[in-house]
Amino acid sequence: MYDFKLSTTDKPTLYRDLAAAMEGLVAGEPDAIANMANAAALIFESVPGLNWAGFYRNVGGELVLGPFQGRPACIRIPFGTGVCGVAAATLEVQRVDDVSKFPGHIACDGASVSELVVPIVRDGRLIAVLDLDSPHKARFDAVDEDGFVKIGIVLTTRL
Ligand code: SME
Repeated sequence: MYDFKLSTTDKPTLYRDLAAAMEGLVAGEPDAIANMANAAALIFESVPGLNWAGFYRNVGGELVLGPFQGRPACIRIPFGTGVCGVAAATLEVQRVDDVSKFPGHIACDGASVSELVVPIVRDGRLIAVLDLDSPHKARFDAVDEDGFVKIGIVLTTRL
């Protein structure tokens, strides 16, 4: 049984503990889908204020829905389209305070207001993007971004 109880009292501690828990969760398991599924579950139950957490995989130059927690979501996203597609095309983190102002934003869940997307890159190639959605405006700040970038690094060799 995995029973991670992460304190959410301060964000740097939360992300430090989350990265350590993530390391333990994916250590020794080479199956990418299993690791994405557990990673999405751990994030969703540990980080407050999220309504969606999960992955889109790079399948032949198109983003295809991977394991996630939250409401059913759009399945295929072209590179360059929406927040995830821009992250995939640029390989840059996208942190959006209000998705209604992001050109081409894809509204999978009408409740989503802010979004953070972290590209996961190995040997210069996009493996997947980690997508976090929140029903709160400007839910993600620089500390959240830094924390999830580190989670992405932990996952890089396990996806
Ligand atoms: N809103 C995203 C699409 C994915 S869902 O949020 C799960 C986007 O614009 O890329």
